[in-house]
Amino acid sequence: MKKLEGRAAVVTGAASGIGLAVAEALTAEGAAVLMTDLDADALGRAAASLRADRRRVEALPLDVTDAAAVAAAADAAVTRFGGLHIAVNNAGIVNRGLAWELSLDDWQRVLAVDLWGVIHGVAAFVPRILATGEEGHVVNVASMAAVNPVERLGPYTVAKHGVLGLSDVLRADLFAVGAPVGVSVVMPGATRTGMNPQGTVEPGAVAANIVDAIRRDRPYVFTDGHSTGSVRRRLEAILSARDQVITS
Ligand SMILES: NC(=O)c1ccc[n+]([C@@H]2O[C@H](COP(=O)([O-])OP(=O)(O)OC[C@H]3O[C@@H](n4cnc5c(N)ncnc54)[C@H](O)[C@@H]3O)[C@@H](O)[C@H]2O)c1
Repeated sequence: MKKLEGRAAVVTGAASGIGLAVAEALTAEGAAVLMTDLDADALGRAAASLRADRRRVEALPLDVTDAAAVAAAADAAVTRFGGLHIAVNNAGIVNRGLAWELSLDDWQRVLAVDLWGVIHGVAAFVPRILATGEEGHVVNVASMAAVNPVERLGPYTVAKHGVLGLSDVLRADLFAVGAPVGVSVVMPGATRTGMNPQGTVEPGAVAANIVDAIRRDRPYVFTDGHSTGSVRRRLEAILSARDQVITS
């Protein structure tokens, strides 16, 4: 999708961090954005600051763990903008602990937002993008944890691996039906946001990569070279296991 001007987008988790930076970047290109977030107060402030800058934004409080609410947000985007072209499934949370010590509630809470939230987004936004009948793009924000497991990040790592797999399958499914809709999965490194105040990458740099990924239909989006060596070693270890297959 070369031109973003006049396109309609929805962004989840848009009140802060990467989601807010994406809303800023998309509206700077002339797209209209439905900003959604669980935190209604922060969302209202974020949307007001963009509106003050004459950006075309609407705000809708939304919990991505609620499938019916995500479907209603998709309808709201179509009602307000007359269609939907871009969906950015970005909302996320994290927790930490040894895999066997985290409670099942800890696992469920992170999977509900980071994996089910994206599944809800795919189920709700993709049919509206297809119904709009124009070029479209889906952006799913995963993490380096999608390709590089880190200790004490079990639920997050499982969820982000799921988002990577979901994005690949979604791309294949859209290709199979000939839909002009691209899919990008974003794997940011440590980004300076509320989730990760020590992060070294600025959210604006992640957003710039996301806009470029939409324009050029980039399937995989990294934001820095962080952990590249360990990702390569892991993939090589997986592939080298094929040499060790016992066949008789
Ligand atoms: N910051 C990093 O280092 C980093 C690295 C890799 C990936 N990511 C991913 O980037 C995405 C954005 O995170 P961020 O770093 O900007 O953090 P952030 O905490 O600044 O933003 C996350 C936003 O999601 C919202 N949110 C949380 N639960 C929600 C729910 N149930 N429904 C709707 N909104 C909800 C929060 O209110 C918040 O505004 C997440 O998916 C995160 O996993 C972040």
